[in-house]
Amino acid sequence: MEHPGEWVGRHVDELDTPVLVVDLERFESNVAAMALYCRRQGVSWRPHSKSHKSPDIARIQLAAGATGLTCAKLSEAEIFVAHGVGDILLANQLASNSRLQQLARLQERGRIIGIVDHAEALAMAMAAGQYTGIDIPLIVDIDIGMHRTGVQPGPGVIELARGVHEGKGVCLLGVMGYEGHVLAEHPASVKERAARQALDHLVEARDQLLADGLPCDIVSAGSTGSYDLAATHDAITEIQAGGAIFMDAMYRDRFHVDDRFSTALSLLTTVTGRHADHIVTDAGFKTLSAFHHQPQVLDREDLEFGYLSAEHGVYRLLEGASGPALGERLRLLPGYGDSTTVLHDHFIAERDGRVERVWPLTARGALT
Ligand SMILES: Cc1ncc(COP(=O)(O)O)c(C=O)c1O
Repeated sequence: MEHPGEWVGRHVDELDTPVLVVDLERFESNVAAMALYCRRQGVSWRPHSKSHKSPDIARIQLAAGATGLTCAKLSEAEIFVAHGVGDILLANQLASNSRLQQLARLQERGRIIGIVDHAEALAMAMAAGQYTGIDIPLIVDIDIGMHRTGVQPGPGVIELARGVHEGKGVCLLGVMGYEGHVLAEHPASVKERAARQALDHLVEARDQLLADGLPCDIVSAGSTGSYDLAATHDAITEIQAGGAIFMDAMYRDRFHVDDRFSTALSLLTTVTGRHADHIVTDAGFKTLSAFHHQPQVLDREDLEFGYLSAEHGVYRLLEGASGPALGERLRLLPGYGDSTTVLHDHFIAERDGRVERVWPLTARGALT
């Protein structure tokens, strides 16, 4: 099997399928648009790396003006640090002494900020900081309505923040919250109200921290589905939006993300079976995900998504359609990009149909 690195210069039509393709022109425009938007609003862009897991893409984001990354896993953060990323928000709480000691030691190579929403996790972080002799920078995670993680808004926030500020082995940088529960709200006025209500919890927390003499330099929030609402909200200092660089069907159709971004990621697949009322492709659920949102067939109107089994994609032929020929290629728009990209080892970046670069998903599989 050829290594995808050898595909540079070829036309995408010559590539073995299934293959994950990035339209460079659209991708670059998406990166520039998010960087510019954040700059104009006076907030930092700290894109979540879960959408790409690629140090090459991280470098492009940083060159465009991103001030750092958001990561979900410590092992992921370690990979990005090894590739020169110096400022990372680790947006998932660690609850293990050994992992927190690793986080403390990672401070020697960059600023890797942890989050905390529980007094016991804070106690573990303090122990790790004191054991290693290296202070761990922390921000307090607040549940602003999604009810996934975070301390409840109110006195508990200040109590935890004071614990971080006064605790040995840790230091307090600010607060974060994730408004994931508002993304699919529609119409725009309803979504705006829901986002405002959620993000107001962060403003209140910031105001209370400052009034109590506690530091609050970072107020972090925002995702692709709400980047504009977060970036224009009082007190927010940085936006975590990641997936906008690719823009998938879910962001566009379910979250109504505006036309500042265009779809840049697609999956090329080959028709390997033809039947009376459906066709079969070489991209099943080990290649393409229908989690959260269905993939869409691009550039043609005669097929409808059916289902994915492990190694087969099934698409229904619409009434009267003759459909694609056996061996023909289809271009699919992933439903939720994150759940498809992690199934692949490489992004194939093309411009005008020619492969220009191959980006490995180096942090794929970094799950710890
Ligand atoms: C903590 C956190 N921040 C930000 C995001 C937004 O990511 P994206 O913009 O890629 O949708 C998510 C998405 O799940 C998240 O969990």
